[in-house]
Amino acid sequence: MVWHARRRLSVMEQMKRVSDANLRLLERERRFIQNASHELRTPITVAIGHAELLQRSSDPTRMAADARVVLDELMRLRRLSDRLLLLAAADDPDFLHKKPIEVEPVLVSALQRWSPTPRQWRLGTTDEAMVDADADRLALAIDALVENAVKHTTPDDWIELSVRRNHKVEITVADSGTGIERGDLDRIFERFARSDISRARDSEGLGLGLPIVKTIAEAHGGTLSVRSDVGKGTELTISLPLAVGVGEGAKGSPTPTPMPTHSG
Ligand SMILES: Nc1ncnc2c1ncn2[C@@H]1O[C@H](COP(=O)(O)OP(=O)(O)O)[C@@H](O)[C@H]1O
Ligand SMILES: [Mg+2]
Repeated sequence: MVWHARRRLSVMEQMKRVSDANLRLLERERRFIQNASHELRTPITVAIGHAELLQRSSDPTRMAADARVVLDELMRLRRLSDRLLLLAAADDPDFLHKKPIEVEPVLVSALQRWSPTPRQWRLGTTDEAMVDADADRLALAIDALVENAVKHTTPDDWIELSVRRNHKVEITVADSGTGIERGDLDRIFERFARSDISRARDSEGLGLGLPIVKTIAEAHGGTLSVRSDVGKGTELTISLPLAVGVGEGAKGSPTPTPMPTHSG
């Protein structure tokens, strides 16, 4: 009897845990839809306002300025919808077109694309590393990390791209910028979660960059992690499995200074 009662209790506890987890998931979805609707509505409202001004105005200078605002807001909407579509596509079976690729050239071409932006650009450790990856998606993920690094640094700061190979492949974008508050570290991978520091300083971000990087990393069977220290800088690392059939043969890499860590 006691055994049956205990078993029933444990089944009930299990059911409660599952239903709690479902509730949390539903709540997250609800917040996501609410945030997405809000982010979509703002540029639409601004664009409508300026289109109405445009309609009423006859001064060419003012008309050009209003048209510019409408165009900017439409571009923002397009960026937002592209990113939302990409996040939604992650569940499709053909989200990735993987083939074995060498990581270093992907980093080098990212550096070449970004080098016109005045920062102290560095190529750090570049271990030879093959991954089974979708080169375009991987480039997009690295680009989003570099874009963030640029946003949170000044021309005097350095930004370093590196790839380390041990039992997995670690692609890191590190910077000597503002850093992220400890309390924000576990939120920045959430959709539309932007830390207070950024919200105060710029209104441009959509808060979808890191969720996209995380989605791309996970679709490859990998992870995204962050280490950061306010005032010292930030390090974001995409860890991917080594390409199948590639031995371990780890290369040594210097031990980094410890910083608060979060894995998402
Ligand atoms: N390299 C970085 N340095 C400092 N803060 C960062 C860095 N990368 C990301 N963050 C923080 O994480 C938040 C989320 O990043 P992201 O998802 O790319 O959104 P967005 O760039 O649109 O704000 C940013 O708003 C910022 O606060
Ligand atoms: Mg970003």
